[in-house]
Amino acid sequence: MKILGIETSCDETAVCLIEASESFGSNFQFKIFGNALASQAALHAQYGGVFPNLAKREHIKNLPILLEQVMKETGLDPNKPDIDVIAVTVGPGLEPCLWTGITFVQQLVVQWGVPVVAVNHMEGHVVIAMLRREVDSEQLAVGSNYQLTTINFPVLSLLISGGHTELVLSKEFGHYQVVGQTRDDAAGEAFDKVARLLGLPYPGGPEISRLAAQARSSQLAAPFKLPRPMMHEDNFDFSFSGLKTAVRRIVEATPQTDLLKMQVSCEFENAVADVLVKKTLRAVDQFGAQTVLVGGGVSANTEIRRRLAEALAEAGGVSLLTPPIDLATDNAIMIALAGYFHAQKKEFADPTELVASGNLALH
Ligand code: KG4
Ligand code: ZN
Repeated sequence: MKILGIETSCDETAVCLIEASESFGSNFQFKIFGNALASQAALHAQYGGVFPNLAKREHIKNLPILLEQVMKETGLDPNKPDIDVIAVTVGPGLEPCLWTGITFVQQLVVQWGVPVVAVNHMEGHVVIAMLRREVDSEQLAVGSNYQLTTINFPVLSLLISGGHTELVLSKEFGHYQVVGQTRDDAAGEAFDKVARLLGLPYPGGPEISRLAAQARSSQLAAPFKLPRPMMHEDNFDFSFSGLKTAVRRIVEATPQTDLLKMQVSCEFENAVADVLVKKTLRAVDQFGAQTVLVGGGVSANTEIRRRLAEALAEAGGVSLLTPPIDLATDNAIMIALAGYFHAQKKEFADPTELVASGNLALH
């Protein structure tokens, strides 16, 4: 089955074409034929975060360009392409942005007459972490074949992105129970806001991570300690806004030197990692999870990955699934993969009734 994937939920416009076969399990195979992505990060940098109307305008501009790029890359006839289904993100995300993808797909359906699957963006982040790949291969290459890794349920997914921070329990593939979530800012949002306080560009995650790594390699201990919000509370919820406020106080009271930026970045990353790891391990214990899966843009963070791996190795017997680093942040391949899963179950949507759903939950 050939699937065209379309993603426009935030500030990444992405289009891809993949081919997948067999049901999700040991025989599943997929291949990437074409993959195009336009990031608006540089455009939003001046606002320190995503500016929805600007993002919408860019998606509208980028979608036809990226589709043409994928059509050329795959040699498909743009008038009557050999595509079996279109998978499009309908939520969660910024509604004006989601609508651009939906409207675009509705126009394609009129021209091509192919069925459509509505995809939950967060399910995309889950599915992309389930791929099997060579240990040292962090990129998925166009033209190569991929399979699923062997997954032992229950799976506990730690989903950490710019809009979400949640712990999700799955007793089988495609079933989700949210067992904990942030009560205020998402982890990625906290990285972005702290970066802004430090005068670092958007998106803040990679910048903070880079400075934190420098601080660690120079063994720069911070002369202050940031809080670990809710870390010892007996639940699976998170809170990151207090951490940002604590950083603001330090930054306002201290001259902004490169040294301070490195120290704050390192201590902030440590604080976020401590809380995420502790809460995840508590949930592993509570729900008897066999596998921990980490997904969403913040799962690109190498320190968080390293600490999760270390803690799970100590706990023993629980495996860790991570997405390829360059597919941890938003992309169309994860949407096409999640779409394939639903297309296989014939869960098609009426294209005229697709609706953008900013707060769409996993269930
Ligand atoms: O999943 P994603 O691409 O978009 C949403 O669905 O929100 O996640 C974007 C978020 C941003 O907040 C960005 O700062 C964060 O992921 N991020 C990182 C890293 N790379 C991206 N956070 C921490 N460390 C990173 N290396
Ligand atoms: Zn995302």
